[in-house]
Amino acid sequence: QASPLYAQCQGCHQPTGAGIPGVFPPLAGHVPEILAAKGGREYLIQVLLYGLQGQITVKGAKYQGAMPAYTQLKDEEIAGLLNHISTQWGNKFPTGQQAFTAAEVKAQRAKTMTAAQVLEARNKLGLK
Ligand code: HEM
Repeated sequence: QASPLYAQCQGCHQPTGAGIPGVFPPLAGHVPEILAAKGGREYLIQVLLYGLQGQITVKGAKYQGAMPAYTQLKDEEIAGLLNHISTQWGNKFPTGQQAFTAAEVKAQRAKTMTAAQVLEARNKLGLK
């Protein structure tokens, strides 16, 4: 299902959500494992609001790029994008989790983080 907002993402993460190995991380098959981690929902909101910079490992592959920040999007738009990437390409919310709301995005926007702090938050998720 098409999402006009995801058009801004697919140049890097690809229409299939598969990313480009070693360059842009996949979202397909990967967003659910972030959602399942304690703090993962908040982290996903932070990535969109503040970007991400520094080395990460996804499914055994290393990435050292820069994810741009999308602070200019409205809270509802960020929630909509996160709902899109959480439910496309076979992705699903973990049992018991509901769709992202604008109120959840607003709460993370109140924090004001740097892309490097978002990386620190990621490191605390305990992703494999
Ligand atoms: C990382 C989503 C746009 C490049 C991520 C992550 C998410 C995400 C959820 C975190 C993955 C993880 O922690 O394992 C999105 C969405 C976008 C978008 C929804 C559209 C609003 C872009 C664009 C680019 C990009 C346009 C390229 C210019 C990257 C890179 C990383 C990343 C390089 C890894 C950063 C690092 O190595 O530290 N993206 N992204 N993304 N994204 Fe995006």
